[in-house]
Amino acid sequence: KSGEREQWGTRIGLILAVAGNAVGLGNFLRFPVQAAQNGGGAFMIPYFIFFILLGIPLMWIEWGIGRHGGKYRHGSAPGMFDVLWKHKLAKYLGSFGLFISLTILIYYTYIESWTLGFSLFSILGFFSNETVQTMPNFLSSYQGITESSTFSSIWTAYLLMLFTFVLNFYILYRGIAQGIEKLAKIAMPLLFIFAIILVIRVVTLGTPDPSLPENSVENGFAFIWNPDFNQLGNPIIWLAAAGQIFFTLSVGMGTIHAYASYLKPKDDIALSALTTASTNEFAEVILGASIAIPVAVAFFGLDMTKAIAQGGAFNLGFVAMPAIFGSAHLPLGEIFGFLWFLLLFFAGITSSVAMGQPIVAFLEDEFGMDRRKAVLTLAAVVLISVQLVVFFLKYGFLDEMDYWAGTFGLVVFALMETILFMWVFGADKAWKEMNDGGDIKIPRIFYYIMKYITPVILAGIMIWWFVQNALPTLLLKNVSPENVPYIWGARVLMLVLFGGIIWLVKKAWNNRKEIF
Ligand code: PHE
Ligand code: NA
Repeated sequence: KSGEREQWGTRIGLILAVAGNAVGLGNFLRFPVQAAQNGGGAFMIPYFIFFILLGIPLMWIEWGIGRHGGKYRHGSAPGMFDVLWKHKLAKYLGSFGLFISLTILIYYTYIESWTLGFSLFSILGFFSNETVQTMPNFLSSYQGITESSTFSSIWTAYLLMLFTFVLNFYILYRGIAQGIEKLAKIAMPLLFIFAIILVIRVVTLGTPDPSLPENSVENGFAFIWNPDFNQLGNPIIWLAAAGQIFFTLSVGMGTIHAYASYLKPKDDIALSALTTASTNEFAEVILGASIAIPVAVAFFGLDMTKAIAQGGAFNLGFVAMPAIFGSAHLPLGEIFGFLWFLLLFFAGITSSVAMGQPIVAFLEDEFGMDRRKAVLTLAAVVLISVQLVVFFLKYGFLDEMDYWAGTFGLVVFALMETILFMWVFGADKAWKEMNDGGDIKIPRIFYYIMKYITPVILAGIMIWWFVQNALPTLLLKNVSPENVPYIWGARVLMLVLFGGIIWLVKKAWNNRKEIF
């Protein structure tokens, strides 16, 4: 198929789009909970080690693979891997890059729709009487699991879910420069402004209730940052830190590759990859760490916040925060609540469009579909699959998908791409590709890190993770019996998606043989 490939409009637009891809719910919900659960300040040690040895190298690798693939008109991993490795297996390995981003897209966008709903509920005053004790029922009635005076059915959530998906598909349909880049130029500055307003509000809170001097913002920051060095010997913390680095930087998924494929061959990679990774870390370590956990400690105290954090990222974001904006009486709570959830929504949508783009690019580049047809095809698959996520939420359906695609899958894909790029394609060619057109030179030490250290750590993590929790998860350890059929349902769905992708890849390459 001839004609120009799409391109980014401006440098700043591209940087904002890739930063938007990385900055997501992971920064504001997942990170603070992970840090609080895994040794506080001590968590930051493995976190930064993996940022340097895995996160940054994978960013460069993925930008490199992506821009290189774009030269051959490939915007997704199957075609990109095929260019790197002249072997008929390569394109099938690339299917992982479509499977992971598609699977995450399906459940992530549903959660993103909650943030939109909650921002409206906040400004409408729905939280004014809600407490930490009543919010779990508010949330589960919204999700259609229970009933409350506010929600007697799932339909509010369902409509917001549909609206959010349609908005995502519309942006994808508008394309790279007119859709994704425009969105990032609006949403990213607003996101940072909202976050900074919230951080200033939080750090100036002091001790909201003078009769409870322990419940202070200072203690909240201490909770996140005081290192518990005894925890450093615990392997769980190291795995959690690696998992957070992958998830938050959006590496190991196939989305960075897709964005990078719309670069021009001589566009900078070296500095842009570093800039977007640093932007994500600022949004995570400075902003993300300074909102939800400190404010929860200030209002509810340390013990209750610990209990909330144990309940996971959703409880912190969708239970504790609304209660603070509501009956815990943060002044102007409706407005701060609106800003908090809208911030999450902007963070979410600039990430979810990134998860959709690899499939759209695949259908365009490998099947010659026009963008409209490609987006409609993606929409059909996603809208069918998400029904199961929405209606089987309480049976652990979402968690099962999140585990295989959003946790374990990332390491597998990252290991494959690192070996393909640094060993099969060749470290010297890869190094040249990543530095070509660069505004900085990547420090030479990263040549050795990417060639030796990154793949060895990835292999180590993959094996360790497999034994530690992939195997127990696979064997349904710690699953309540009533959930078992739904867990299998989630697995069947994932197998169908994966099988479908493999089939499409095969078909695309067969068609190609007929043409040439
Ligand atoms: N990095 C995003 C976050 O922190 C999540 C994400 C996952 C984005 C997969 C793109 C692809 O929330
Ligand atoms: Na992130």
